[in-house]
Amino acid sequence: MKYPIKNICCIGAGYVGGPTMAIFAKYCPDIVINVVDLNKDRIKKWNSTKLDNLPIFEPGLEKIISENRGKNLFFSNKVEEKISEADMIFISVNTPTKEKGIGAGQASDLKWIDACARQISKYAKANTIVVEKSTLPVKTAQTIKQILDAPNNDFPDKNFSILSNPEFLSEGSAINNLENPDRVLIGGNNKDAIDALIDIYLRWVDKDKILTTDLWSSELSKLISNAFLAQRISSINSITALCEKTGANIKEVSIAIGSDQRIGKYFLNAGPGFGGSCFKKDISNLVYICNFYGLNETASYWQKVIDINQWQSSRISEIIVRNLFGTISGKKIGILGFSFKANTNDTRESPAIKICKQLLEEGAILKIYDPKVKKEKILKELSPYLYLDEIDNKSSNHKLIYSSSAEEASTDSDALVILTEWDEFKDLNWNKLSNLMRSPYWVFDTRTIINIEDAKLSGFNVWRIGDGTLKKGDIVN
Ligand code: NAD
Ligand code: UGA
Repeated sequence: MKYPIKNICCIGAGYVGGPTMAIFAKYCPDIVINVVDLNKDRIKKWNSTKLDNLPIFEPGLEKIISENRGKNLFFSNKVEEKISEADMIFISVNTPTKEKGIGAGQASDLKWIDACARQISKYAKANTIVVEKSTLPVKTAQTIKQILDAPNNDFPDKNFSILSNPEFLSEGSAINNLENPDRVLIGGNNKDAIDALIDIYLRWVDKDKILTTDLWSSELSKLISNAFLAQRISSINSITALCEKTGANIKEVSIAIGSDQRIGKYFLNAGPGFGGSCFKKDISNLVYICNFYGLNETASYWQKVIDINQWQSSRISEIIVRNLFGTISGKKIGILGFSFKANTNDTRESPAIKICKQLLEEGAILKIYDPKVKKEKILKELSPYLYLDEIDNKSSNHKLIYSSSAEEASTDSDALVILTEWDEFKDLNWNKLSNLMRSPYWVFDTRTIINIEDAKLSGFNVWRIGDGTLKKGDIVN
């Protein structure tokens, strides 16, 4: 083997770097794995002896951390030192949408990637393999290579091989996705470097699931994969309103179309719109790249996926207001679920943020409960839309109240809005909740998870996304 790998450094201890390296450590006991980050608080949490203090919640993660941390898996802020010891370096830092300057609102902000490349160039030893784990615009490897290959008087003999190895895990199922991936994608043009990375994955992934491509196809495939997934959600969500108008039911439609193997049954759950840190940013980036190359039709096609997503959350807020007799000013509304999907504490781009913001603007008092999102995070996400004295006080003239259970969120509320599909919301005690609420009371199920018959029996007015069969009576779609 031209590149024997004994020591790995992963830059970025986030939602990707932490779980991915935990799995590497589990299956590669002979390799020392250092996960480094500039963020001191995050590293402190990764090293916490109390496992429920880990910086991210991911089912199955605590066990793997407890079994491997301190053996061959280490978390630290010693970025330079750990880079200098590594045979292979993964770049797993954030690549959010640019907030200002050229391409603001669309292009990826590559300042963290640029910083990593410079750190690697300065501190890495000769013949290091650098692996792009972060999701990047196509051709970023070229930029990284230019920075790495810039003349370095201190170390004239340094040379680097760059690979693209995008990550396809989904939050909430990251451990299963990492242990049983549909595929592992490796792009590059140095066969020995590619073989070194394949050799690592072969310890737990079947050979036929490891795909190799050129660098640009690998980088681009990651963006396109996310674009196709998000497009399915916008497609099904665009039909929810039509179902509500025509008396059809989106659940039935999803099953009917998904039974065609050419379409497939996955990723057809209607909801309040996709959230998460990546879909919007990656499609925005795709739109930016297409426009950059003058491919305006391609750009407009993908832009529509984002537009429908925005429309879906606004549509839900409007439906809530209209059903509550046209005004929610001063009314209490219980929000059940704040994370962008179940089984994660991540709130980045959560549809709950947009919907809560719109309800607050209409004057509602929100009582928010999520099983895993901590109070501070909810306050941080929503405080820009409130005056300080409107936050988190149980007295009735405050607009944002953190609740520690579904019951607490229901107390004195006029409506409940289910925004995340947590298991515990599938089986709520509707009778108990109805007794706590102000009559007439409503439930708005944006995830189609509740037992509506039970809710109706307890006197709830029920609205469910994409369900036109509920149109009779006083439901306003
Ligand atoms: P994150 O924000 O959770 O973590 C990134 C970490 O990198 C942060 O803790 C930050 O402090 C650290 N960092 C930034 N610059 C650094 C530097 N120069 N040196 C040391 N540390 C540095 O991000 P994430 O969700 O883990 O995503 C990382 C990348 O992976 C992104 O490109 C994202 O698009 C991609 N991705 C994310 C997911 C996901 O589910 N979150 C899935 C697949 C791919
Ligand atoms: C997504 C992709 O699924 C991963 O393959 C990819 O690696 C990752 O983005 C990334 O690059 O960051 P993630 O965002 O963690 O993963 O979660 P998803 O399960 O894709 O859900 C995204 C959003 O779509 C959530 O808000 C979810 O509720 C919503 N969704 C998903 C639906 O509304 N309906 C569905 O049928 C599926």
